[in-house]
Amino acid sequence: MPDISAVKFFGRRKGRTIRKAKTFLLENFLQKISLSAQTVFDRNTLFGIIPDEVHLEIGFGDGGHLAELSAKKQNTGFIGVEVFQNGIANLLTLLTGIKDAQHEIENPTIASKRADNVRIFPEDARLLFPHIPDSFIDKIYLLFPDPWPKNRHAERRFVNPDNLKEMARILKKGGILQIATDHKVYKKHVLHTMHDCKDFIWTAQKIADFDRPPQDWVETKYQRKAVREGRKPVFFEYKRI
Ligand SMILES: C[S@@+](CC[C@H](N)C(=O)[O-])C[C@H]1O[C@@H](n2cnc3c(N)ncnc32)[C@H](O)[C@@H]1O
Repeated sequence: MPDISAVKFFGRRKGRTIRKAKTFLLENFLQKISLSAQTVFDRNTLFGIIPDEVHLEIGFGDGGHLAELSAKKQNTGFIGVEVFQNGIANLLTLLTGIKDAQHEIENPTIASKRADNVRIFPEDARLLFPHIPDSFIDKIYLLFPDPWPKNRHAERRFVNPDNLKEMARILKKGGILQIATDHKVYKKHVLHTMHDCKDFIWTAQKIADFDRPPQDWVETKYQRKAVREGRKPVFFEYKRI
């Protein structure tokens, strides 16, 4: 992996104390499905299945979206990327169904068929990009990225020319980049930045299209929180040219 100190991460890596069962999953199961510097990015060997498509979710949060989508689309391989330990642990719980610390004593080895089409990169997505071959990915989900609304923090926004260059490289032609946000500043930022990026076209027919989620949409935790708190999410779909 590239030098970790060369990439500065500004978000949270840890939240509340992680419970015993989740700590057990982080220590004993994560390594079975996580990607590392040794991983060979071969579609035929990366997952426990040979996938029809490979999708990448950047910043999967509590893992709810990734767990639900990977259960619905069992022929698709999913790479989930997240730095927040509590979120990673939660995804492992959703994939294995293990909620009870007693499991550790009763079942020292965990084998989850549910995780056959899921792989996790438990670090900053920018450290993963250089390892993914050109045109490897069919779809990228960037759902409710941290908005960093203050002008002086604008450089921290994930939608930026450097990351777009990498996302365009790893997406196959015709591949989809899906972005959602509930923040007015980020909405404008996406519109401007994507307008200047010549590798993608916006699939919307009319401006109001971003008010509706695309087909087969699975709600995320942040989306529900935004709606509860009276904010209106918007949805963008861009196609790799
Ligand atoms: C606002 S949350 C949204 C979570 C989830 N997508 C949802 O909609 O519920 C943004 C998430 O992106 C993660 N994140 C931010 N920058 C990241 C990066 N460079 N690489 C991987 N994850 C990142 C954060 O840790 C956080 O969990």
